[in-house]
Formats: sequence, C-alpha cells, structure tokens
Amino acid sequence: MKIILATGNPLKLTTDLLIVLATEEETFAKGKTPTPLLASLDRALGGHLRSASTQERFSGKLESTFELSTLGRLPCGRVAILGLGPRREVNHETLRQAAGRAARLVRRVSAETAALLVEDRNDAELSAIAEGLALGTYRFDKYLSERKPSPAAEVTLLLTHPANRDDKAALARALHLAESVNLARDLVNEPAGHLTPTRLAETARAVARASGLRIEVLERPQIQKLRMGMFLGVAQGSVEPPKLIHLWWPGKAKKGQGGLAFIGKAITFDSGGLSLKTNEGMLDMKTDMAGSAAVIGAMREVARIAPPFPVHAYMGACENMPSGTAYKLGDVLKSRLGKTVEINNTDAEGRLVLGDMLSYANERKPDAMVDVATLTGACMVALGHWTAGAFGVDDRFASEVLEAAKVAGEDLWRLPMVPWIKETLKSDLADLRNTGDRYGGAISAAHFLHAFVGKTPWVHLDIAGPSQAPKERGYLPKGATGFAVRTLASLVEHRAGRPLSA
Ligand code: BES
Ligand code: MN
Ligand code: ZN
Repeated sequence: MKIILATGNPLKLTTDLLIVLATEEETFAKGKTPTPLLASLDRALGGHLRSASTQERFSGKLESTFELSTLGRLPCGRVAILGLGPRREVNHETLRQAAGRAARLVRRVSAETAALLVEDRNDAELSAIAEGLALGTYRFDKYLSERKPSPAAEVTLLLTHPANRDDKAALARALHLAESVNLARDLVNEPAGHLTPTRLAETARAVARASGLRIEVLERPQIQKLRMGMFLGVAQGSVEPPKLIHLWWPGKAKKGQGGLAFIGKAITFDSGGLSLKTNEGMLDMKTDMAGSAAVIGAMREVARIAPPFPVHAYMGACENMPSGTAYKLGDVLKSRLGKTVEINNTDAEGRLVLGDMLSYANERKPDAMVDVATLTGACMVALGHWTAGAFGVDDRFASEVLEAAKVAGEDLWRLPMVPWIKETLKSDLADLRNTGDRYGGAISAAHFLHAFVGKTPWVHLDIAGPSQAPKERGYLPKGATGFAVRTLASLVEHRAGRPLSA
C-alpha cells in the first residue's frame, strides 16, 4: 500500500473510497452535530448519508464503521465513516487505531484508491494516522499458496492545507517506523525451522548494511572466550550454533557519554529443554525471539533518528532444546560476571542468556539499559495479552521509559520488584538458582536479571503477552505485533531531543 499526501476538496475527489473519521459528537445521530464536511457530503448525496446512517444507528462509537455507496452522486465510489468514540477520549492512539481499521477496510472492499480525510490535524496526529494505516495493512501470507491478491492500493491522506515540510517529515517518519515494526513482525511470524540463530544474525547483518549500522557476530569459540557460561549452557542442547549479535550506532560519543544499550531475548525456539514444555505450551515458541526482533526493528529506527550518542544492541541467539548434549537440571553454570547459577528448570532459559548479555552490555558503561524479552507466562497471567510488564529499581529511568511508551501508543504497566521475592532465588549449591516460586514468577525473573546489571539505570520489559495478539484490533494484526519497537524508538527520539508529544 502506498500512502501519499494531497490537498483538495473531498467533494471533488475521484477515488474508490472516501474515509472520514468522526467522534460521537459529530455524527447524524439525534442531538449531535455533524462536521461541516459530513454535512456537505450529505447534501451532495441528497440526504442519504444522514438517513442511512441514522437508520443503521451509527453513533460514532469507537470501532464502529458505517459505509455507503454514492451511486454516482459524488466522484468517489463509496463513503465510509469510522467512529472515534467520544471527543474527550480521542488521542493519538485512538487515531492510530482508527487508521488501522481504515487500512483493513481498504483491503476488504478491494479499493484501488482511497482517501482518508485528515483535515486540520497537527503533525503528531498526522504521524499517528499514517502509522496506523501502514501498520494496519500488514499481513504474513508468504506460506499461503493461494494468497489473496492485495490490490496495489494507493491511500491519500487528504489535508485542507498544502502539505508543508513538517507534514512530509511526519509522513516519512511514520512510514519508516511502520516498516521497522513490520520487519519485527515478519521475524516473529517466521517459523523456527527457517529462522535459526544463524538466519537471525544474517537478517541483522542485512539491516545493518542497509541502514548504516555497525555489526559484529560472535561465534561459539568467541563466546567461550568471553566465558558466557549461562548463554553457552542454554545453547549446548541444540545442533544450531549460537550467535552473539552486537549491532550498534556509534554516535559521536563524547567522553563519558555511554549512550543506550538494548538487549533482546533471542531464543529462536523454546522447547523448554529437558524441562520439556507440553504441546500446547510449545506451540507458539517460535516467537521467543520477539525481544530481539523488536530490538533489531528499533535499531533500524536509531539509524534514521541518528542520535548524537551511541546505541548498542546485544542479542544472544540460540535454541533451547532437549538432547543428549543439553544442559541438565542440577547443573551449575558460571556466568560471565562470575556468579554461579544452579539450574532447577531448563525452561527458565531466557534469563540465563539475558544475564550474560546484560553484564556484557554493562562493560561498555552505557548511561542506561533496556532489555526486551518474552520472559514469563506469569506476566501474561498478570497483565493479559495487550500490556507489557515494566520492571526496574531506578524510578527516574522507569518513568522515562513509561513516558516513551505512552507517546508511542504502547501499553506498559510497572510491576514491583518486591524484595522478599528475591529470596526465592537462593540456592544451597550456587550463588543463585534460575527459578523461584510459581507465584510472582515475573518478579523473580526480573530479580534474576537485576543480579547481572550492577548500578546502571535499567528497565526490563516482559513482552510475553503483547508480542502476539490473539485477534486483530485496530492496527494490530493477529499474531506478531512488533511490540516495543515504537517504545524504544520513542525513547531514542526523546533522548535525542526530538520528542513527539503524547
Ligand atoms: N519463553 C517462555 C515464556 C513465555 C511463555 C513466553 C508463554 C510467551 C508465552 C520462558 O522461557 C519460559 O518458559 N518461562 C517459564 C518460566 C518458569 C519455568 C519459571 C514460564 O513462564 O513458565
Ligand atoms: Mn522457557
Ligand atoms: Zn523462553
């Protein structure tokens, strides 16, 4: 789908589908006042817009849609009104969601051309609408032998004023961002039989080459030299070799400026290892690299934003498999940091790999670190499918990340690092064990990671829930969502002094 900007009179526009966004206050329902534009469309249609929409009881509720064929009375083929809900609840995220529904409507009616009326919205709103459109067209259909042909649709964002430089920049930003989110979605949706650690590293290399990032991929012997006993322990059960992917934007690092570090969980398949998952529990485990997919997508945005400070990304890519060479229950692994860990569940593998990655990232003395991981089912039990858990002991940095997520339109909820829960990770045999109690499982996982962080401001995002959507909603497709790309990009924009407002 191609998205362009144009200016003009919607009443004179030749297009297959004209889409208007309307709040509950702006419909033809009783006691409401349609916008001047809707009123003039209604006049041109001889009052049919009013009569048909009231007959269908279209009230502008969020997620509601009304559609009408113009039967030749207007140069456009159809008119659609998408509900935005009550005016006071309209924000960037509701606009983004509505634009996502618009994108799907374009596809559903097989429109080759469409126009979405933007009217006099500011650039942050324009950006949100363009993001929603570009995110809402996503499909993962490469494995369907009978793909529904998607018409080469062109969607015009129709402005009332001539597009200026800021409008064009807002559109370009939104389209680039959506492409990075869609890249993350593709990586997560790709089956593990294809997307091995090697292939993930190749993709990161291609992204680096195309966008001007630096990359280094370390192989097993080098990982051994780095003494990453936890990463190596998880990787040892698989025939697929592990890869340590280090992707970075050098910035113009001023002395004493460490920049940001992003760490992504990159388990390309999580069988649970010898603590084998059930069939049901394993079904979706090709998605256990969603954290690294988000980090790769975000790094592509870092290259666009070109911040003056460095941003480093680290991903320990491997599979978690049961085999004759797999790490065992009761094994003691020695981390890069030197701490020893008793394994009481091989299915708590993510924290092991992340622990080594966090201490490696920390050696370069970043100003702050964020890790993104599909870490615990417990976090999904706590927060559901749409919200990620945010953890950390640095309140200032946690607030900064939460604010960045809000600007981006991603839902984070801070969960507490309850100190008593840390004690469940005590081991008689080693410095730590890798699994605590079932209750508070997301919190003990965060405590485990914290043991490898030191004093650097750090936030852990548990995206086990929102990395995948159980059904489509707004601009989110069913399946991989690309969650956290936008939050990380927004954090970098904020630190680079170029924030979009919430
Ligand atoms: N990758 C899983 C977490 C997960 C579960 C992500 C469901 C997405 C959906 C992780 O490696 C895992 O297996 N966690 C265990 C931890 C337990 C063994 C302490 C879990 O959540 O059950
Ligand atoms: Mn696991
Ligand atoms: Zn896992």
